[in-house]
Amino acid sequence: MSYTIKRVVVIGSGTMGGGIAAHAANAGLPVYLLDVTQAIVLASFERLKKSRPPSFFTPQTAELVTIGNLIDNFSWVAEGDWIVEAIVENLQAKRELVARIERVRKPASIVSSNTSGLPIAAIAAEASADFKKHFLGTHFFNPPRYMKLLEVIPTANTDPHITEFMQTFAEDRLGKGVVICKDTPNFIANRYGSISAATALNYILEHGYTVEEADAIMGTLIGRARTGIFRLQDLVGLDVSSAVGDNLYGLIEHDESREVLRDSRLRRVRTGQLERGRLGDKSGQGFYLKPPKGTKADILSLDLETLEYRARREPEIPSIAEAMKIKPLGERLRFVLKQNDKAGALARHTIYNALAYASRRIPEISDEIVNVDHAVRWGFSHELGPFEIWDALGVRETVANMERQKISVAPWVKEMLASGHETFYRSEDGRLSYYDQARNSYVTEPLADRSIDLHALKATRMVCENSSARLLNLGDGVLCLELLTNTLDAPARRLLSDALDFMETGAYAGLVIANQGADFCVGSDVEGKELQDALMKVRFSSKPVVTAPAGKTLGAGAVLAMSAAAAVAAAETYMGLNSGTLGCKEMVRRHVSPAMKTPNTDPLPLLQQVLQTIATRKVSTSAAEARSLGFLSASDRIVMNRDHQIALAKQVVLELADAGYAPPARSKTCYAAGRDVLAALRAGLYVMRQGDFMTDNDLHASNRVAFVLCGGDLSAAQWVHERYFLDLEMGQ
Ligand code: NAI
Repeated sequence: MSYTIKRVVVIGSGTMGGGIAAHAANAGLPVYLLDVTQAIVLASFERLKKSRPPSFFTPQTAELVTIGNLIDNFSWVAEGDWIVEAIVENLQAKRELVARIERVRKPASIVSSNTSGLPIAAIAAEASADFKKHFLGTHFFNPPRYMKLLEVIPTANTDPHITEFMQTFAEDRLGKGVVICKDTPNFIANRYGSISAATALNYILEHGYTVEEADAIMGTLIGRARTGIFRLQDLVGLDVSSAVGDNLYGLIEHDESREVLRDSRLRRVRTGQLERGRLGDKSGQGFYLKPPKGTKADILSLDLETLEYRARREPEIPSIAEAMKIKPLGERLRFVLKQNDKAGALARHTIYNALAYASRRIPEISDEIVNVDHAVRWGFSHELGPFEIWDALGVRETVANMERQKISVAPWVKEMLASGHETFYRSEDGRLSYYDQARNSYVTEPLADRSIDLHALKATRMVCENSSARLLNLGDGVLCLELLTNTLDAPARRLLSDALDFMETGAYAGLVIANQGADFCVGSDVEGKELQDALMKVRFSSKPVVTAPAGKTLGAGAVLAMSAAAAVAAAETYMGLNSGTLGCKEMVRRHVSPAMKTPNTDPLPLLQQVLQTIATRKVSTSAAEARSLGFLSASDRIVMNRDHQIALAKQVVLELADAGYAPPARSKTCYAAGRDVLAALRAGLYVMRQGDFMTDNDLHASNRVAFVLCGGDLSAAQWVHERYFLDLEMGQ
């Protein structure tokens, strides 16, 4: 049986249902979003459209969502290929809904439940065998568009083909990092997260740390989210984390660590805060008290003893600043764990206990360590998962340290060491394999087929590198320039130029320009001829160059992405021109010139649009929006899953090379509209200045941009070489 999803139905339009509906629409799927009443769903939908950061890729994406209610529109459920239940966390309510869905769903439709902690099998316990076959858990993280993790939970009755199909669908179409979980309490991420957070909190309370100290230690310092532990609690909501913890406690009687969830110190603070209505950001106060909007007062911090707010107290732990100078996480952690101060003590307690707990949950929550690492990294934005940290610290040495502290490590870890396996992961020629405790041997990571990990290629496939970039061989004749610093600075430009020359000399098919950091490239350290020459060398390379923009792609980074033969952009690409007239030539060439080939076309509206984009320094909130702004063309690819981006870029290089790639002609391809259109643009700018929509400085800068976009004040429109526009960009 093969499955396809052409229509999605989401029931429950709250935080999660709304977010899931929006993201399905982002994937181009039409969605019915249903809730109890029309008033509820309407209010949810309005909120969803205004959410910040935006849930939808573009405002138009929201048009794919049709809202309805469960009284008049329940028959719509029959049209769904995938029906997602995201209503309140209540087993009875979910069961009743499942019974209703079962009565109308079409054969072969897939039904999933988005629950934080209810057993998936229990939700469908009363349903038919056919329903159970098509039913599974899909646990999204909030907000669904931005959080990479999706836990997929099949039950014993779920058809394995459905699980496999949903995994591929969620990875390819929704861009998620899928972790297949067992139907155990709170699945993987929240099970590990709840216990490890409670372990840390108990220690913090027992040893008199301040909230500022705890947050300074529990954040970036140890490879976790910037928010630390208390800021994160305020974001999540104390009511939510307490409910998750309480629910979990009741479900894991056999778990040797469960008492940390009920520690008396933790209970005192939680109860005290909840009684005072201090839930975190949603109630305006939690472990931190934010001053009311519009007032200038400082944020206050909670005294964990008295539960009163007090002025912020900077932590006085000198080793933190020292450690932050060390960039690689493994090295930094080793430094922190050695410190004889409050940072060292809390880090030792938190990390050793968390790693050991993860080992003791294998195979209960997962047979594979890689699932735990993925869930923790993708669900909580930790830099490394527990087994990856353990490797970075040295497994044998860390086990010895844990045992010294009477922390019990799972026997399989010791067996692994005894059989001569010193690490949880191994990399062989760019392919990562992980230790499988059941087989006592290594297994290749499933992701490896469709994704290229530049980091793993470094050891064996590096051609050369400097401080800002690295040239790697991706195989099959494709090279990759990895931008290491997010700026197209002098060393990066040098290696770019060398890479293009090097590509000419050998039997290479083409070049990918990419990286795996948060941002592709946020600009350059210089403007002017040298930068232009570097970008033009990319544009006129005799072999195809394919860029892989993702995250912030600004100024010279945006022009670099636009200069190549093609771009394969990650769906989350924030692209914009923010650097004077840089990029004007590219926008005229891509956006204005093709339209002007049709006789009698008016260039003014096109140029007005481009002028507005550049002059207001508009940055797209997604790759889809970058396309509608003209930064990406219709033929550029957008890939939902960032992990697949570099492999796809490589494939595009090979496709272009196979099709007999020829560089663009150096002919008069750019349309210069001339002085009449310039006058019209300037008149529009003048009106905006008069209306106080811009300052004198803005007006001056916008007039410059308008001048370049029109090709100066030529007396009549004409077609010119790209170089002509580039000279204007430089003010010549
Ligand atoms: P929510 O309270 O924001 O939204 C729930 C929606 O369901 C509301 O719009 C409500 O009108 C509707 N609803 C309530 N009872 C219903 C019923 N009997 N039939 C149909 N609709 C009904 O809740 P949220 O946060 O969106 O959570 C939904 C589910 O997702 C829960 O099971 C929750 O545990 C789970 N979850 C929540 C996460 C979060 O961060 N909020 C994360 C992951 C899972």
